[in-house]
Amino acid sequence: MSQTVRLGLIGCGGMMRTHAQGVNLVKGIEIVAVCDIIRERAEEVAEVLNTPYITTDFETMVDLVDAVLIALPHDLHYECGAFFARHGKHVMMEKPLCNTEEECLSLIDICEEHNVVLMCAYPVRFWPGIVRLKELIDSGEYGEIIQMSIWTEQLTGAEWMDNPRPDWRQTARLGGGQFFSHGCHYVDLLLWFLGEPVRGMHFGTKNGTPWMVREGTSAATIQFANGALGYHGATWGARGTRLGYDFQIQTERGMLEYDHGQGMIRLYNRELAHIPGNVEHKGYSVLWQRDASESGGKATHYEIEHFVECINTGKTPLTNGYNTLQGLRVIWAMYNAEQNNTVADLRGLGLRDFD
Ligand SMILES: NC(=O)c1ccc[n+]([C@@H]2O[C@H](COP(=O)([O-])OP(=O)(O)OC[C@H]3O[C@@H](n4cnc5c(N)ncnc54)[C@H](O)[C@@H]3O)[C@@H](O)[C@H]2O)c1
Repeated sequence: MSQTVRLGLIGCGGMMRTHAQGVNLVKGIEIVAVCDIIRERAEEVAEVLNTPYITTDFETMVDLVDAVLIALPHDLHYECGAFFARHGKHVMMEKPLCNTEEECLSLIDICEEHNVVLMCAYPVRFWPGIVRLKELIDSGEYGEIIQMSIWTEQLTGAEWMDNPRPDWRQTARLGGGQFFSHGCHYVDLLLWFLGEPVRGMHFGTKNGTPWMVREGTSAATIQFANGALGYHGATWGARGTRLGYDFQIQTERGMLEYDHGQGMIRLYNRELAHIPGNVEHKGYSVLWQRDASESGGKATHYEIEHFVECINTGKTPLTNGYNTLQGLRVIWAMYNAEQNNTVADLRGLGLRDFD
């Protein structure tokens, strides 16, 4: 029988308010403590979750918890994660894992030494539509992958422009631009779907996002060992959007698209009109539809369920320290190449293979 996991929440800003909607859906956990240096923020989250212990100093919750979910500014990830891991507590870290290679490696080592689970919060990996898309691709039914494109358009941070006291995301504390801070979700997905990366290029611009220290918009292309191409096109400067979030995979047997807004996987191929559910005049078949009872949005409860399962079973998380660091190394190598006007060599950046 699994024990209830006593979870502490650290950093009660925007992302934790999103998690607070999700944690109530997860069985087998109890939120026993919440922390924010701004007490009112911790109180707000504690109220929603009916959490007894509220603190402005995360160290004081250490004896109350089995595990922590950390949603702090990026430059504080390492210090906080290392503190809890050293005390034998499992760590679920908001992305990006840490701001540097040294911090990532050290955190991975400390978690191994103390035999605790280290998982990076990449919710997209656990969305049922993305999991189904991966199963469809892995089934081999659609043949070879030609290219996978992940497109995201958001307006992030425009409000910081008029902020008299700069938000941490407007400073070097972010650790990079949109490619590092947000693109890490999608580089992680591209590696999961397409395998070993070989080479890549990134171009970024600050056009339309003057509040950013680095790029607010990215165009990234990666070639994989199996020949497939992966693209990530994203902006934090979208004043309007039609696509929002879109995931498309061109294969030998048509184009598979996951539309997160509609909660639908579509196959575009007029020759496959016999597939049940095909809406022929639109040229696509619906291969999967989100259950009406399931939520769209960030839907972070799936990743938290996975974290709890890993704690209870000793399983290695899908988004563990090793593959998370490989994704960040890809990003750092592509940033360096962009600066040097070269193509990034992405071979051999993995630390260990996990399936
Ligand atoms: N998965 C996603 O889709 C997603 C989306 C947004 C943010 N995030 C991640 O979540 C994390 C937090 O981002 P955010 O947007 O919520 O930022 P935020 O600034 O809204 O929240 C951070 C909170 O941490 C608190 N804090 C700062 N220093 C602290 C300390 N020493 N002790 C305790 N609390 C402290 C701040 O007061 C603030 O409330 C980041 O890692 C970010 O990348 C993930």
